[in-house]
Amino acid sequence: MSIDDLKIPKIALGTWAWGDSGEAGNGYFGSRLTKAGLQEVADKAHAAGFTFWDTAVVYGMGRAETVLGEVLRRYARRDYQLSTKFTPQAAGTGDDPVSDMLDQSLARLGTDYIDLYWIHNPADVARWTPYLIPLLKRGKVKHIGVSNHNLEEIALANRVLGEAGFQVEAIQNHYSLLYRSSEHAGILDHCRSQGIPFFAYMVLEQGALSGKYSQQHPLPEGSSRAEIYNAMLPQLKALTDKLASIGQKHGAAAADAATAWAIAKGATPIIGVTKPDHIDGLVRASAIALSGDDIVELEALADATNVDTRGWWEREMQV
Ligand SMILES: NC(=O)c1ccc[n+]([C@@H]2O[C@H](COP(=O)([O-])OP(=O)(O)OC[C@H]3O[C@@H](n4cnc5c(N)ncnc54)[C@H](OP(=O)(O)O)[C@@H]3O)[C@@H](O)[C@H]2O)c1
Repeated sequence: MSIDDLKIPKIALGTWAWGDSGEAGNGYFGSRLTKAGLQEVADKAHAAGFTFWDTAVVYGMGRAETVLGEVLRRYARRDYQLSTKFTPQAAGTGDDPVSDMLDQSLARLGTDYIDLYWIHNPADVARWTPYLIPLLKRGKVKHIGVSNHNLEEIALANRVLGEAGFQVEAIQNHYSLLYRSSEHAGILDHCRSQGIPFFAYMVLEQGALSGKYSQQHPLPEGSSRAEIYNAMLPQLKALTDKLASIGQKHGAAAADAATAWAIAKGATPIIGVTKPDHIDGLVRASAIALSGDDIVELEALADATNVDTRGWWEREMQV
């Protein structure tokens, strides 16, 4: 297979939390990650066949890309795929802010191409999308995806790229048991009917659905994710207990059942792995086929939580 082909994995690996690593991490996750620990995560992931990495400039303002580039250096470039993002809000003031941001990502990641380059959000679709065309032509990015775009914005991006013979080849949105805006807005159906992969991010709600966290054992104090999720943990208990019991039937954990739910819905989950044993979870999740009854029960419990986990950077997907 040529490096130009996009190989859609069953599960992709997320690195937002990796921006916390090192001394000046932004503390969003409150994770204490070291380069040696992340090397172990990457090595274990590759040994298990998980080789598709998602990152972004803004995860620790370059820190996640830098550490990812460092730990992947021991692998041949053709043996893994990279996805990173152009974030409009972080654009510089040069003639071509998209090319400039991409060049900085390439330098940090230690590569000369990105397999799947995302526009991070639809801040101004008509303004930013055309900048991608020369990057595709020069082979610096092989494929384009859009993130946090609604159906109308996806169509606009696709029209702009289509004029140059390219297209939107992947969608990446928040999608979890607790946040199904993309499903309700018809984006999953659109992806299915057009044969476009739908990448689901925050499937574990930053750990709140992993089953490891509870009122007695909350998310790390002082982190941004704790501020968002800790108050919800009592309402999530019935759901995480159910995830744990479904997981148990399959010799797996609650987090694995949540990941298997996203796979069963036709999505490619991007799981933010931070520890080597998370990779064991991905192996287990890949092998779980949830029953229709399990899916119905999980979604009913999720709806009953009555929590709103929309990210501060997100809008509802309904047009
Ligand atoms: N396009 C966008 O706007 C956007 C927005 C958000 C995220 N993303 C992408 O999607 C990825 C996933 O989202 P996320 O990292 O924010 O959250 P997530 O995947 O929902 O949750 C990640 C957290 O869950 C825990 N975890 C991960 N794997 C686990 C496993 N197998 N078993 C048990 N616990 C596990 C870890 O917590 P502990 O560290 O506490 O163990 C980790 O920090 C990001 O890393 C990023 O690449 C994109």
